[in-house]
Amino acid sequence: MIGRLQTAVEYTGTEASPWGELKLISGGANMMLAAKIAEILDVPLTDPRLRHFPDGEINVKIEDSMRGHDVFVIQPTSPPVNEHLMELFIILDALRRASAGRVTAVIPYYGYARKERKTQPREPISAKLVANFITLAGADRLLLFDLHAEAIEGFFDVPTDHLSPHRIFSEYLKTLNLKHLTIVAPDAGGGRRAEAVANDLGAPIAFGYKRRDDEQSVEVIAVSGDVKGRDCVVVEDIITTGGTVSKLAIALRQQGANRVLIAATHPVLTGDAMDRLRKADVEQVIVTDTVPIPAEKLGPPLTLLSVAPLLAEAIIRVHENRSVSELFQQ
Ligand code: R5P
Repeated sequence: MIGRLQTAVEYTGTEASPWGELKLISGGANMMLAAKIAEILDVPLTDPRLRHFPDGEINVKIEDSMRGHDVFVIQPTSPPVNEHLMELFIILDALRRASAGRVTAVIPYYGYARKERKTQPREPISAKLVANFITLAGADRLLLFDLHAEAIEGFFDVPTDHLSPHRIFSEYLKTLNLKHLTIVAPDAGGGRRAEAVANDLGAPIAFGYKRRDDEQSVEVIAVSGDVKGRDCVVVEDIITTGGTVSKLAIALRQQGANRVLIAATHPVLTGDAMDRLRKADVEQVIVTDTVPIPAEKLGPPLTLLSVAPLLAEAIIRVHENRSVSELFQQ
């Protein structure tokens, strides 16, 4: 199912913009999302003619003139993350050399976001390194969506807009007739994300506490808050292996939760994540289309909501030099 946030996208041409004409380009990571945004805005996607040399290196040749235009490059850096990052860097480089007027990198999912700080000696801060590369490659500004850690926005020294999915989730959850609702954050780091949905719905918050032994496995140790006999919605940013949300769902059931649903922004869904989600005894796993989902993974328990209307509205506002934060004040 594709859901749409009610937004008032009205792109009427170049008159309202201090920049050149609005141009949209998509890397190869999520062509479906880019096509939806292009359809909403009624702006054609410019073909970057992405192709590979025989040794796997990426090359692009942007089809139309970009000189003086206001260009938005849509590319979540989803798996294969290194390939999609390189595509983004190379498209940005080509745009700069083509004298684009202004270039905005629209990154609905930001890969390498989990390493946004050092937790042990001799570790990298990969999220910062990626931010450096993106601006070095030629992005004049960023449009970001539900970053794993809000601090990453500060890794950029160019203007950024950071969009939240909370309205998309809360509008949909309102249709489900949930009773005695509790919103559950999987950990303290997810508190603000869960709080935004809880505020929209007037619901209390509960917290999970998890221990991660390595990158692959996670253990939910405890849940604190009022969950017994209540309908619980876990609000999460990323589902990768599905370990966190499926174990949290089990812990919620053990503590007497009534209905259990998951709302997660970025369905990365590696390996056997879908098996874990199907076995987790959850009513729905509500996700968005920031990253593409292969056809065989679609269908229950996944419910797919689209971020395209919200991204399209934000793109218009950036193009016309209008407030983006106003989008969340209605
Ligand atoms: C980490 O803190 C994130 O917010 C997610 O909880 C994590 O990325 C989910 O990964 P997985 O699905 O592999 O448990």
